[in-house]
Amino acid sequence: MAVSPNKVQDRKEDLTDFSHVGPDTLSGRYLRHFWHPVHRSQDLRAGQAITTRLLGEEFTLYRGQSGTVHMVGGRCAHRGTQLSTGWVEEDCIRCFYHGWKYDGDGRCVEQPAEDEGFARKVSVDGHPVHEYLGLIFAYVGEGTPPPMPHFRFMEEFDESKAFRITEKFTKGYNYRHGMENSVDPVHVAFVHRNSEYRGLPGCPSVEAEETDYGLKLRSIRPHGSIRITQWQMPTILYIKQGPRDPAETAWRDFLLWRKPVDDESFVELSASLVYMPEGERQRFLHSNEAMMANDPAPELGMKALRNEIHTDDITDLQLAVNVQDYVAQYGQGTFYDRSGERLGRSDVGVILLRKLYARELTALAEGRPLTSWKTFEPEATTGL
Ligand code: FES
Ligand SMILES: [Fe+2]
Repeated sequence: MAVSPNKVQDRKEDLTDFSHVGPDTLSGRYLRHFWHPVHRSQDLRAGQAITTRLLGEEFTLYRGQSGTVHMVGGRCAHRGTQLSTGWVEEDCIRCFYHGWKYDGDGRCVEQPAEDEGFARKVSVDGHPVHEYLGLIFAYVGEGTPPPMPHFRFMEEFDESKAFRITEKFTKGYNYRHGMENSVDPVHVAFVHRNSEYRGLPGCPSVEAEETDYGLKLRSIRPHGSIRITQWQMPTILYIKQGPRDPAETAWRDFLLWRKPVDDESFVELSASLVYMPEGERQRFLHSNEAMMANDPAPELGMKALRNEIHTDDITDLQLAVNVQDYVAQYGQGTFYDRSGERLGRSDVGVILLRKLYARELTALAEGRPLTSWKTFEPEATTGL
């Protein structure tokens, strides 16, 4: 059968496009082969249920009274109301509407107004969850989940020098903008030139190399220093991040996941080692949590995009960095058609990331095995 040029074009776009995250898209199916963070552990107390969205789907995340976290489908199997509005009872959740009760695997175990025997024919989806480094991870793909990547350097460290924090920032644009920004070190020289990243002087030349975990970048600055960025497929960034608080004694170890919520929003969930004397930590944590709870970055970013302010006007270092990245990425639009881009040699990181995705998406489309990515050993450097 003849294939029309349009058909070929459609196919090509599908194989290189990892912007879409829904269950009916190729990249959405690819992303479902991995664990993704859905929430911070500290933000879900025992007995609490919330609705969380991941990869364009809705789920009910709850912590049983035992402390164990469970994730089941977002809607009740009876008449579809939002399950998270109900009640957590031990390790089960009871629906708000007519009281059907589900266990942590999504099996219906009680229906107060129904005959015995009906419940065992009813279930909602149940999904594996895992708490690690202060974050809750979930697997929403088919079959047995892959091993959860473990990062030993984040587990074992000198607690007199550093402590671990988690951070969460919600973004109102496609997750791929954020990912490609992470493998684009040249942006630092412009987007962050008035911030603490002044510790990274000059416009770097960039080298990118494929690794068994994804890719590694070297940003070589005019004075000869080299900064290393590590990227683990499909969504994990590891980098050294400059101090944002005066009490920090060294650059942070920053490990970031992007949780794609849907095609037009994502959440950055990270675990960091912050190097700081013990006496400063409570103060820092308090102000950091307050900043996240009322993150002014999106509003300031929108003001900058409307040209009402310039990011150079923001004096708070941590806030400035967040607004600067927001402006550069949201400046590309909520969802961005990349077909008109003009990439140059400094875009090697973006080009390599796209190549890895295209190769994996092609393998998935053709039914061939996917790459089994390793977990990286930390090499990231400040480049100072
Ligand atoms: S909708 Fe949940 S019990 Fe009726
Ligand atoms: Fe940035």
